Amino acid sequence: MSRLAKLLFLSLLDQIVPRSASQLTGSQLKVSGQSVVDQLLHLSRYSVDPAPAVTRVLFTEADTAARRYVKELFQDAGLKMHEDPMGNIFGRWEGSDSSAGAVMTGSHCDAIPLSGLYDGTVGVIGGAAAVKALRQAGYAPAKTIEVIMFTSEEPTRFGLGCIGSRGMAGTLTPEVLDARPDENGTLFKHAAQQAGYGASSHKAILDGTLLKGKRKVDAFVELHIEQGPRLEAEGAAIGVVEEAVLATGAPDTVGTAGRWDLSPNTVNSVPREASLEVDIRDIDGARRDQVVAAVRKAAGAIAGKRKVRHEVEVVNQDDPATCGSEVTSAVAASVKDLGLSSLQLVSRAYHDALFMAQIAPSGMIFIPCRHGWSHRPDEYSSPEAIENGVKVLALTLARLAGQGVDVDRSEL
Ligand SMILES: *[C@@H]1O[C@H](CO)[C@@H](O)[C@H](O)[C@H]1NC(C)=O
Ligand SMILES: [Zn+2]
Repeated sequence: MSRLAKLLFLSLLDQIVPRSASQLTGSQLKVSGQSVVDQLLHLSRYSVDPAPAVTRVLFTEADTAARRYVKELFQDAGLKMHEDPMGNIFGRWEGSDSSAGAVMTGSHCDAIPLSGLYDGTVGVIGGAAAVKALRQAGYAPAKTIEVIMFTSEEPTRFGLGCIGSRGMAGTLTPEVLDARPDENGTLFKHAAQQAGYGASSHKAILDGTLLKGKRKVDAFVELHIEQGPRLEAEGAAIGVVEEAVLATGAPDTVGTAGRWDLSPNTVNSVPREASLEVDIRDIDGARRDQVVAAVRKAAGAIAGKRKVRHEVEVVNQDDPATCGSEVTSAVAASVKDLGLSSLQLVSRAYHDALFMAQIAPSGMIFIPCRHGWSHRPDEYSSPEAIENGVKVLALTLARLAGQGVDVDRSEL
């Protein structure tokens, strides 16, 4: 073959031959950060509040419309759709090895009142974009890849976050779902039914949702905005959320008192009853429990001093998850492939990855967001940051999902 013919042939081959993970390089991935941003902007229109604010509460009209759009994007990426009774949406790309476990990615699209358009959504729309880029690069997975939109990562409607991933991990009970109606007394199962999901009971919903022990999941990786300032401050493109940083000090304990309810809550009466919801997090479970104990003690002391009755109820108490090292190393290798700078970070916020970590090695890819702002209308991540994140996600999925068809080019 002449040199020119060889080059032409190779370039043709580039277009048509499925490539294995080891052959796939960052330069072969075509991702447009701007087109992902356009899709994020489109999604943000499904909101109760006007742009740039996003308010999208579980199973409301805005959420249902957003779900329709997400399914369109999944379809466009060639993913095969499946939804469970809880409203988790799965887009499936079948691997060649049907006996292997699945490699999963995903995040959430619900948004607390008056938040922004990047939190969660980047991991869902970015997941579909990563799959599309892999397909276009000719990659074919050995293991099945699934992109997930998790139901209700935000606790807005039912006072409990990560409902979809808790359900999948098998850490949610029917009693917990039953005990927590929304502000209008609607139970999860009825809201789910109204949105076209659900089953007769919470138990049936969870049975239809459960992954634990039913399906083999080999890995989970979530792409998300950092919701903290470190990447931007240090000029790093990617945060690799990593287990090695686990044993740090007190700054990793985070507490918020997010929800007050007074009853009666009127201008001209002294409340008879007050309730306060406190959220205490730590990557060290024992240290978190010490803080909780201190809060209980203080509540008791204050109640004694004021001569009022008090009660403490634990809504949920989840073990901190550490990331699976195979996922973190796949992320780190992909970052290196792309020549990007990175930092190892600890995640202090709740994410679906926390619950997926209970069934599979899991990790997270963080991208910078302006000033670390999140959950507000001016939340912002640049198209470049998103493009980097999607590329890292795509290469990570390819690494985890393994070899496609190997091509021996040595004879060309
Ligand atoms: C509860 O009812 C009020 C009044 O009808 C309505 O505005 C609100 O959206 C409802 N909340 C939910 C979560 O559906
Ligand atoms: Zn989120």
